[in-house]
Amino acid sequence: MGICFLLLIVGFCWAQHNPNTHSGTTSIVHLFEWRWADIAHECERYLAPNGFGGVQISPPNENVIITDPWQPWWERYQPVSYKLCTRSGNETEFRDMVTRCNNVGVHIYVDAVINHMCGANAGAGNHATCGSYFNAKTKDFPAVPYSGWDFNDLKCKSRSGDIENYHDMFQVIDLGGEPITGSDYFENGRVTEFKYGAKLGTVIRKWNGEKMAYLKNWGEGWGFVPSDRALVFVDNHDNQRGHGAGGASILTFWDARLYKMAVGFMLAHPYGFTRVMSSFRWPRNFVDGEDTNDWVGPPSESDGSTKAVTINEDTTCGNDWVCEHRWRQIKNMVIFRNVVDGQPFSNWWDNDSNQVAFGRGDKGFIVFNNDDWSMNVDLQTGLPAGTYCDVISGQKEGSGCTGIQVYVSDDGMANFQISNSAEDPFVAIHVNAKL
Ligand SMILES: *[C@@H]1O[C@H](CO)[C@@H](O)[C@H](O)[C@H]1NC(C)=O
Ligand SMILES: *[C@@H]1O[C@H](CO)[C@@H](O)[C@H](O)[C@H]1NC(C)=O
Repeated sequence: MGICFLLLIVGFCWAQHNPNTHSGTTSIVHLFEWRWADIAHECERYLAPNGFGGVQISPPNENVIITDPWQPWWERYQPVSYKLCTRSGNETEFRDMVTRCNNVGVHIYVDAVINHMCGANAGAGNHATCGSYFNAKTKDFPAVPYSGWDFNDLKCKSRSGDIENYHDMFQVIDLGGEPITGSDYFENGRVTEFKYGAKLGTVIRKWNGEKMAYLKNWGEGWGFVPSDRALVFVDNHDNQRGHGAGGASILTFWDARLYKMAVGFMLAHPYGFTRVMSSFRWPRNFVDGEDTNDWVGPPSESDGSTKAVTINEDTTCGNDWVCEHRWRQIKNMVIFRNVVDGQPFSNWWDNDSNQVAFGRGDKGFIVFNNDDWSMNVDLQTGLPAGTYCDVISGQKEGSGCTGIQVYVSDDGMANFQISNSAEDPFVAIHVNAKL
């Protein structure tokens, strides 16, 4: 799992074109499975004030309701139509979210699943989140409308016609049992959907990268989205299978301490465009080392509706929502990234082991001790002389500091002592947290 974890974190950093966040913001958060009403609140009360540039949302369009297993997170990736009603909310709530988030400078990045519908074993009926009729076996989706003509699933090269090996790129691309739409008719449907997205003011259409190869003339579709609002993220949820909800699986397999360090490293490093994961808890059930419950969907009521995100007095979340983006260390590193934006990667240091440090020009500096012994080193920070408040063990509040203080001398040097048994064995300072 160690390797997977690292790969997953790297996967969070996308090569950047123009992420379309408001100037001064450099990261987005994936509010996985959140309700639109909660996201609207979160934009206003937390994300905008803390410098988050956007939210990646779960797919907003109608999906099949799967009952075996009970409403798993992946049912959101089994579309039935492009109507905007899911467990996250209806169209009215979706519009309200987009408007309210945009009004405070937080963009909505749609996880758009628009090049396949639900798999054949979803059967036929109205068991979909808006109650639309469909027949997956005959590939009839009248609410779009699509019929069998719109699918070209003969491309799949596996024996069963299903994905048998997630490491086989072609099987994953061809998507096995989930039909691929590829007709000209589909192109029209897609354009309609783009128009719709643009009208709603959403910023990003996220495509599952593995399927993108089959989409023709996709540039045309983008013509309908105002250029300052459009961006293609190439991402691939199927390749993340086994990680389930991404961040959630990190909590399942990894101690939170290491997770915070890895996210801290990602946010301090200049590479790419960064996304922070925000997950929910699930009841783990390990059988032969595998979590057999990794399908579990969001915290829900007995009627299947998704539970609201409640906020505790200490600003953490309740109702089994984990809200990693609200953890002080992660939130403060999102701010760190904004502060050092545009600054060069500088003053790298390491001890040939797992103690590393680097700066971002004359704006920020970060030090990690992931060795099994304490560190006590003097390092060149590149920062102006002064006293800085470590934003990991605490933060600057008013003119005070609730965490460790770091003294940078006139020549830019500072002493760092980090115990390997510290709650968070890393220290980060930046010019906006100078005392
Ligand atoms: C959308 O959901 C809200 C909240 O449940 C509800 O008040 C409203 O009537 C719904 N709107 C539509 C058009 O269904
Ligand atoms: C770094 O780790 C090595 C062992 O790999 C150790 O000998 C050395 O003292 C460490 N350096 C510092 C500065 O802690």
